[in-house]
Amino acid sequence: MSKVTVIGAGNVGATVAYSVATKDIVKEVVLLDIKEGLAEGKSLDMWQTSAIEGFNTRIIGSTNDYTKTAGSDVIVITSGLPRKPGMSRDDLISTNAKIVNEVTAKAIEQSPDAIVIIVSNPLDVMTYVAYKTAKTAKNKVFGMAGILDTARYRAFLADEMGTSPKDIQALLMGGHGDTMVPLPRYTKVNGIPITQYIKPERLDEIVARTKKGGGELVGLMGTSAWYAPGTAAAQMVEAIIKDEHRTFPVCAYLDGEYGLKDIYLGVPVVLGKNGIEKIIELDLNEQENKDLKTSADAVKSVMDIFDGMNIL
Ligand code: LAC
Repeated sequence: MSKVTVIGAGNVGATVAYSVATKDIVKEVVLLDIKEGLAEGKSLDMWQTSAIEGFNTRIIGSTNDYTKTAGSDVIVITSGLPRKPGMSRDDLISTNAKIVNEVTAKAIEQSPDAIVIIVSNPLDVMTYVAYKTAKTAKNKVFGMAGILDTARYRAFLADEMGTSPKDIQALLMGGHGDTMVPLPRYTKVNGIPITQYIKPERLDEIVARTKKGGGELVGLMGTSAWYAPGTAAAQMVEAIIKDEHRTFPVCAYLDGEYGLKDIYLGVPVVLGKNGIEKIIELDLNEQENKDLKTSADAVKSVMDIFDGMNIL
């Protein structure tokens, strides 16, 4: 009997809504957008697949009427401009910070107890903006990036080895940008270390491709990706709604973990009905720690730009 709201009916938002609906795990998904009729149209189109796909979740569209989102258990925020070729995620900050601030405030007003998942870019800083705006507990506001980035990494590894991506377990930490930190030491094929399959030089190439995985798609399509980002966010929604206690890399608020404070960054967590049930602190080696620190510094430099905007 749960309700999920997705703010932003663009490619990513619509994919989140559809992926959640087809899982048939909630009573209602509300899709909201500022563009007149867009969310209603996409919702109606999706709902008309219910007889074919066999799900019961009602998908309801709304043009900027937040009262329709009232009482949501989970809110997914995808609003904001996507990247164009040549842009980094960080170039989006001036536009997207204002949008994320505004939509978070309106959404949380209607659903004060909701768990909030941010998908907008630049992800780590937008999640921070939503947290400060929502003024709720830190375990209830977090960002989607790690599942997407590890999914790309796992897909590349599956191609390389000719194996099923399902059997590849991988971990990745840090910001959702070119400094993200895939961790080959924590990458396994059903328990078998990846290093037994792939030579170090080739693994380095796959790691490098993963770090620029989003940019590769922007280059191909002229805008950023949506299938993998959307389904990754839906997987987080599922873990929360079903209280699965799954372990995923998630963009979480750090309050001393990994020696970092007052910053959102990708770390392994346990996801359940309370949102982040636990942050897992791994024993990183010297190089991994150094790479995580570099990634945190990159996120901090974008935070500084945001601080200079004086929005909050
Ligand atoms: C990507 C965007 C969604 O990585 O950040 O494709």
